[in-house]
Formats: sequence, structure tokens, C-alpha cells
Amino acid sequence: MVSIALLPGDGIGGEVMAATVPVLDTLMQRHRLPLDYRVLPWPATEWHRQHGSMMPDDAIDQLLDYDALLLGALGDPGPLDQPDRYRLPDSVSLAPLLTLRKSLNLWACERPARYYPGVPRYLSDPRARELDMLVIRENSEGEYAGQGGRLRAGTEDEIATQLEVFTYAATERLIRHAFERARQRARERRDEKRVRAFSGPGGETRESQVCLITKRNAQAFWGDLYDRVFQQVATEYADVATHHELVDAAAMKFVQCPWRFDVVVASNLHGDILTDLAAVLAGGLGVAPSANINPADASVPALFEPTHGSAPDIAGRNLADPRATLFSLALLLEWLGQRSVATADTKNSNEKNRLFSSAGHQLHETLITDLAAGHPASGTDAVGRRIANALR
Ligand code: IPM
Ligand code: MN
Repeated sequence: MVSIALLPGDGIGGEVMAATVPVLDTLMQRHRLPLDYRVLPWPATEWHRQHGSMMPDDAIDQLLDYDALLLGALGDPGPLDQPDRYRLPDSVSLAPLLTLRKSLNLWACERPARYYPGVPRYLSDPRARELDMLVIRENSEGEYAGQGGRLRAGTEDEIATQLEVFTYAATERLIRHAFERARQRARERRDEKRVRAFSGPGGETRESQVCLITKRNAQAFWGDLYDRVFQQVATEYADVATHHELVDAAAMKFVQCPWRFDVVVASNLHGDILTDLAAVLAGGLGVAPSANINPADASVPALFEPTHGSAPDIAGRNLADPRATLFSLALLLEWLGQRSVATADTKNSNEKNRLFSSAGHQLHETLITDLAAGHPASGTDAVGRRIANALR
């Protein structure tokens, strides 16, 4: 039996997760998924109110018992018009997100941004409909290393330091993973007869591309490390076009010509910022999924979550679009379908993989059809029921 944990979290997290449950139930029945799920009351601000911490001390040990995790949202629980609600500093309420990513060693964060007909389109250039990129964000170190401190805090002599840490090992595995994904995307596009063209070094055509993001003109130390590793790994992937953008220029080009990007690989903070931008170009946070994975070890439970936060402004009002969570669930099922965990019974495990893949695929296709039909993005519960019905 495969088991997954649903972590609703805070704010709209509870609502989008409640809308997801009937969808998951329907998929389990329809595809006879050998799957159990359990809804956990943590991490959450409410758990903190009752227990004094966002999650139990043995949270990571408990989570290791699952095959995959789906998180709703974390942060201010809202609603904003309840000024006396139990609130925590962001650094406390959001900390479990970073703890989970780091403690479970989920070192790659994948955020696909693809434009599907029917979503809000913020760019007027018709070519923006061709937007189809996968941003891979470093998820274990860099600007999020969490080292540093404050001296003479609260005074006018205060000094704050925030150390950035970049290692060869984490850089190499990330960039290699980006090239692997580029290859895989080219294969999938070939199967679907929608081959794309990117130009290689001598002007020749390649079917996929990896674009490296740095700020090497100002932050040369890690910029040069990323650059060197990128050049080195690229020599093993002559079939993949390569490109580099400075992060500020990348932000501009995401808006100006987003169709020129395929796989984008970026540091933790650069990836964080660029993925909010990519999300809005692909229809907004209401439909933007994400996956935190350890590409080298499928026995570690991967963590899937919408890119949005707890949205306290609309929390409790049945207004949140649950489709970002549903797209994340589709990624989770596809991930379960692709991972090959060593097992004695290979035949059975291939069959299992096929079931999860087809459930993930069906959910993904159903969501695209739902978007194209221009159905309302809320109420949250109604959207969940509508998708569940469409799956039956
Ligand atoms: C995200 C979020 C988090 C991040 C915050 C809430 C710590 O913005 O998942 O993109 O920066 O990683
Ligand atoms: Mn973010």
C-alpha cells in the first residue's frame, strides 16, 4: 500500500485541501489506487496555539513513514477581519516549509509554468500562449542557508549578517537534474508531436534548452561556481541547448519573450522570485503547482504544494481556487507513477506505477479541460466537486 499525508496547514490551506479530498477519493476508486491517505493537523498555527510549536518534535520521523506529502498552505491563518486571531511571525509560521524541504533533503523544487487556454492572460503578445517552462529551484542551500545573525539588535548600531552558502555538490546535482529534465521534456514533446526548437552554440537546432540564472556580474563567487559546473555538465548533454541570463534580465525576458524558455535552473532565492513571476504568466497563483523532490532518492517522501500562501485576505470565504492544489496532486500521482522503488515484486510495482501515472494524467487533463471551459475559479468546494464529477 502506498500512503500519503495531507497537510492542510493554515488559511485557505484547509479549504483547498477539503476541496481536494473528494477528487482524491474519486481517483482512488476509478483507478483502484493501492493508496491510503491521512489528514494531519500540523504544521499549523492552530497546532501552535494548542501545543506551543508548529508541529510535533518527531514530525520529520512521522512524515518519513509516508510515500508523499501534499501541503495546502502555511502562514497567517486569516481571515484578515479577525484582528484578534492567533498570529505568529512569518519566521515561525512558515518555518516548517523550510524545515521539511531541508530535513527531508528535498533538494530540487520544480515549478512548471505552462499556459493553458482559459486562464487569465496578462501578456498581450499572442506568443505568450506558448509559454511552457519548468523552473527548477535549488532547495537546500544558497540564500536560504539560514546562517548569520544580528548584533546589537533593535539599536541604531545593529548589524545583520545573512550568509549565502553554495556548494559544488549541491550545484552539480541540481544542474545535472535540469539537463535530465530537459531531455525528458524533449522526449515527451516528440511523443506528443509538439517539438520545439532552440538554437545551439553554432546556430544548429536543439529540441530542448536549459537556461542558467545567476547574478554573476555582482555576485561573482557563486556565479562563477554555477557557471563552471554548468559548462562542465553541459558537455555531457550535447543534445540540449544552453543559455545564461542574469536574474534581472531574466525577469524582464520572462515578460518580454517567455516562449524562449524551456528548463530554467536557478538558486533558491532567484528561483523563488522567478517562480511567482512565471506563475502569474501562466494564469496566476490559483493554478500554479510545485514539487519538492529528491531526484536521487525516491524513497524519501516528496512534498507537493501549491505555490500560493495562506491568503489570509480571502481565507474562510470559500473563494480560493483549489486548482493549484489539484495540479500539485496530479504532479504527486505522476511522481508516484514514475519512481522506481526497489522491490522484490517488480511486476506488481510496474502495475502500481501505471495506475498512479494514469490517475495523475487523468487529473491533469481534466483540469486543463476545466480551465478551457472557463468555469468559475470559486467557490472552493464547488470547484472540487466539479472536478471530482468530471473524473467519474
Ligand atoms: C515559496 C514561499 C516560501 C519560500 C516562503 C513562504 C518561505 O515563498 O514556497 O515559494 O520562499 O520558499
Ligand atoms: Mn515564493
